[in-house]
Amino acid sequence: MMKMRIAIIILFILLIRISEAELKVGFYSQKCPNAESIVRDIVKDAANSNPAVPAFLLRLHFHDCFVEGCDGSILIDNGDTSEKHASPHQGVQGFEIIENAKARLEGVCPGVVSCADVVAMAARDAVALSHGPFYNVETGRKDGFMSNINQTVRMPDVGDSILLLKQKFIEKGLNDKDLVLLTAAHTIGTTACFFMEERLYNFASSGGPDPSINPRFLPELSSACPKNGDINARLPIDHGSGDTFDIQILENIRSGFAVLQSDAKLMDDQTTRGIVDSYFGILSPLTGPSFEADFVRSMVRMGRIGTKTGSSGNIRHVCRSFN
Ligand code: HEM
Ligand SMILES: *[C@@H]1O[C@H](CO)[C@@H](O)[C@H](O)[C@H]1NC(C)=O
Repeated sequence: MMKMRIAIIILFILLIRISEAELKVGFYSQKCPNAESIVRDIVKDAANSNPAVPAFLLRLHFHDCFVEGCDGSILIDNGDTSEKHASPHQGVQGFEIIENAKARLEGVCPGVVSCADVVAMAARDAVALSHGPFYNVETGRKDGFMSNINQTVRMPDVGDSILLLKQKFIEKGLNDKDLVLLTAAHTIGTTACFFMEERLYNFASSGGPDPSINPRFLPELSSACPKNGDINARLPIDHGSGDTFDIQILENIRSGFAVLQSDAKLMDDQTTRGIVDSYFGILSPLTGPSFEADFVRSMVRMGRIGTKTGSSGNIRHVCRSFN
């Protein structure tokens, strides 16, 4: 009888630990009921004063998740060896918005909401603010204990082949469909000409442009990023629709109007090309698949990469430094 009782108690403790260890929608609904609306308000204010903010925040979540999992590792600022200074993170922005939201949260529910979750919530709000789909974001991540400039070697790179891009996604538990849908995050935001040099002026060491660029688009791209011009000049990644979250990015990729080389590469592989094309079948508007629903599904999947729970992480007081 006694043994039975102990077994039941142990079972209960285990169940509680398991449920605490899992991501779920509304993780903070009891512990910090206003967490999501606080983040949303901060993101909205920031976007009002700078329309580029939603793109910063969406990209930030990707860069957080792909290194050491979605654990806020990219936010740490502890000198030159911090992960955030690694070259694959070049141009990543939005840190002060996350820090502002975190500070507001600490005022209301100290030590409760992780920085990794603030990043995930902010990315969700960024998509909605750009007229993309609103979705329920899973929360319950803990913040990690690592930040090392050498940990970004498997970040996807703009010059990667489609095989390598697929491989790097598979390593994170993401499939070819996720690669296509998450690449479509480039429906908002801009790129520096820095990332266009090879594609425009020395594609595959040819000394010329990427032949997959539509000839009608090439002059526009070359004049936006002239040879030996300002590498910091910026242009929208989604030609003609850089502020609005929509399927135009996939249409552009199909028709040779991709801006980034890695986006164009989706057409180099039968599987990824088939996934892009699947959104443009004659019957697609009626019978699906739904670009927005699939994007959301992939975002949720990305948000689960390498999630830290239990004692493998903690809740930071300030996002840029360990407690
Ligand atoms: C598939 C591999 C990917 C590669 C090679 C890639 C590469 C790039 C590059 C080179 C830029 C320009 C950065 C700059 O000049 O500041 C960029 C911007 C951006 N990326 Fe990606 N990206 C990838 C996947 C993703 C994913 C999965 C997301 C989010 C789910 C994402 C979201 C963004 C956003 C929103 C921007 C615009 C940032 C801004 O306007 O400042 N990217 N990406
Ligand atoms: C990163 O790697 C380089 C080369 O292997 C090494 O010299 C350096 O100490 C490493 N940095 C950190 C912070 O681990």
